[in-house]
Amino acid sequence: MNKITSLTPENDSIEERVRDLLSQMTLEEKVGQMHQLDGTWVSEDLKWAVRQGSVGSLLNQTDPHMNRELQRIAIEESRLGIPLMIARDVIHGYKTVFPLPIGQAATWNPSLVEAGARFAAEEAAQMGISWTFAPMLDISRDPRWGRIAESLGEDPYLTGVIGVAMTKGFQGTDLASPTSIAACAKHFAGYGASEGGRDYNTTNIPPNELRNIYMIPFKETVEAGIATIMSSFSDVDGMPAHAHEGMIRGILREEWQFDGLHVSDWDAVRELCTHGVADGERGAAKMAAEAGINVEMVGGAYERQLAGLVHGGSMDIETIDDAVTNILRTKFRLGLFDDPYARIKETPEFGSPEALEAAKAAATESIVLLKNEMGALPLKADGLKSVAVIGPMADAPAEQLGTWVFDGDPALSVTPLQAIRDALPETVTVHHAQGLRNTINRETDLFDDAVAAATRSDIAILFIGEDAILSGEAHCRADIGLPGIQTELFNKLIETGTRIIPVIIAGRPLTFSEIADQADALLFAFHPGTMTGPALFDVLFGNVSPSGRLPVTFPTVVGQVPIYYNHKNTGRPASPDKMAHIEEIEVGAPQTSLGMSSFYLDEGYKPRYPFGFGLTYSHFSYDHIALSSGHIHAGETLLASAIITNNGQADATETVQLYIRDLVGSITRPVRELKGFKKVSLHPGESARVEFELQTEDLAFYRRDKSFGCETGHYHLWIGPNAQEGIWAEFWLDIPAQEG
Ligand code: NOJ
Repeated sequence: MNKITSLTPENDSIEERVRDLLSQMTLEEKVGQMHQLDGTWVSEDLKWAVRQGSVGSLLNQTDPHMNRELQRIAIEESRLGIPLMIARDVIHGYKTVFPLPIGQAATWNPSLVEAGARFAAEEAAQMGISWTFAPMLDISRDPRWGRIAESLGEDPYLTGVIGVAMTKGFQGTDLASPTSIAACAKHFAGYGASEGGRDYNTTNIPPNELRNIYMIPFKETVEAGIATIMSSFSDVDGMPAHAHEGMIRGILREEWQFDGLHVSDWDAVRELCTHGVADGERGAAKMAAEAGINVEMVGGAYERQLAGLVHGGSMDIETIDDAVTNILRTKFRLGLFDDPYARIKETPEFGSPEALEAAKAAATESIVLLKNEMGALPLKADGLKSVAVIGPMADAPAEQLGTWVFDGDPALSVTPLQAIRDALPETVTVHHAQGLRNTINRETDLFDDAVAAATRSDIAILFIGEDAILSGEAHCRADIGLPGIQTELFNKLIETGTRIIPVIIAGRPLTFSEIADQADALLFAFHPGTMTGPALFDVLFGNVSPSGRLPVTFPTVVGQVPIYYNHKNTGRPASPDKMAHIEEIEVGAPQTSLGMSSFYLDEGYKPRYPFGFGLTYSHFSYDHIALSSGHIHAGETLLASAIITNNGQADATETVQLYIRDLVGSITRPVRELKGFKKVSLHPGESARVEFELQTEDLAFYRRDKSFGCETGHYHLWIGPNAQEGIWAEFWLDIPAQEG
């Protein structure tokens, strides 16, 4: 199969095979490996480029027959027979769609996430795809940003844990397996900090935040063996990420020892000109290649400029060799040289019962119960005569899949309406009314049907939120309220006197106080994917108790953004006694009359729902926090535990969270930092001691002197149900003077 080299997998290491192959390549062939083309439409020109060895990877071609043919041309007709990597954005499933990444983070269940990515890899690999551009690890503190949907939320620890789980799922235990695809940690780094939540915008990230917040999940996935990394469209401290040598070569390669492939984002090399740091395509190609971008995704600047730069003496051949080494190493690791066709299946299969089951499990655990009063949920099927199923998201097979599902199959979707019809006994009449044609529609002509359906029913479930297209890349919103006139629809339905249970299905945190204040119960789900319906049915009707938790803070109003739990204390932190509400203030009073603390006159300082928040159908108490010691030294392990008791009437799963606070540091430290979590299932009346292990290195951070390590001092530790509650203890950490 491998006509290039005498070296075989049996007797030689990948590094030797890479060196051997590199030594046979012309400069043009090397540059070809650094050139990625859009393969959506395969022209004769594209085939010619493959034959010439002037393209090393493609994205967006998903026909397995075409991929086999392109791979055949690369192997049999190009001089060196180097196989292609074929890439696709397989973000949260392939044909079987799992919850949006932010919804997967809401499961707080890395095993489910890993399983989901495994199914996604298996389905995609059959098409000849060997590379996905996921997981997206951008810390997202701004719900206006459309790509928060694709993120794993606001927390570096949770993003790291879930990102590593996704990486393992995509890559499996062996990257060369026909069911594995290379993962890609993106977008390195700081894209989530796009100012104002407006996509592609500049960022303003202090160096300590870049290290202590934005880069953490990237480091975690590099340590877990992620195969590839993509740079961010944004800039950091005045330097676009695609030309940021310090970040790419300095941190990623030298510090973290990343030896995989680094790809640009779409046409982002040429955008160095638009950013205003390169004066023309040649300069842009030179900057990006020298900074460490190995592959240019479309754009063609590398193809047109790199050879000339080397021939003209403006670029060292080592820059090219270094990039091509990383590319070839990744191709060898993927097993592409040993069997380039191994992944491709003549008759691919999708939506297996196992994949659908995994998608349902992930969807179920991603659903967050935000409110439940007067025993409103779960609904009881026994004795129920009629139910109204209302709203633009009740029966929208494509919308429930969410953004960034190029290949998701709406035909596999089971909607809430269908699931409710299928699962309830025939004795229950289901009255369906759309109410609104979609979530942004402002026509009221369907309101009467919706009101009639609610009036005739024992209970009404209202499925509202955001259509899929309202979030994702370049789909930002300045106002994160429920779009259109969905709140008006809710208000009309409430007037019927029938209990209305709103279920909000969206791509980002939204503001919906008017509904939350009036409804007895409220569920929220980030587009949960193919199995949205059955998952919601199980939660609504109590087959399972909800266990999803918010991976991101929900503000009451958009003006509170950015609002996130791991903020700094400031010199004047707010507290209930150090603030006032706008109605209380006296017009004309002296400026000094208020709390002089960090709050808003109209919205105080608390979010609507804190990070980590989510209710169950039971009640849990947290007692008897215990630490293995009140004083630990460098290298020691602290054991922290608490007794969690299910005090309610239902079997339920509690998501127990561990937070710490470093009280005095060489730089200001967050008021809380998540350091662990466990999901614990308990029967009514049952208790369990939940224990966490904390290593001293878990307390390390980039300090004032830019070194990484811990500091001697006093810490608080909480075990609780979210970032605002919990029981606490304290300990002292001693670090030898030279380290501290
Ligand atoms: C642009 C996006 O920023 C990136 O995340 C994605 O992988 C590429 N386009 C390819 O579709």
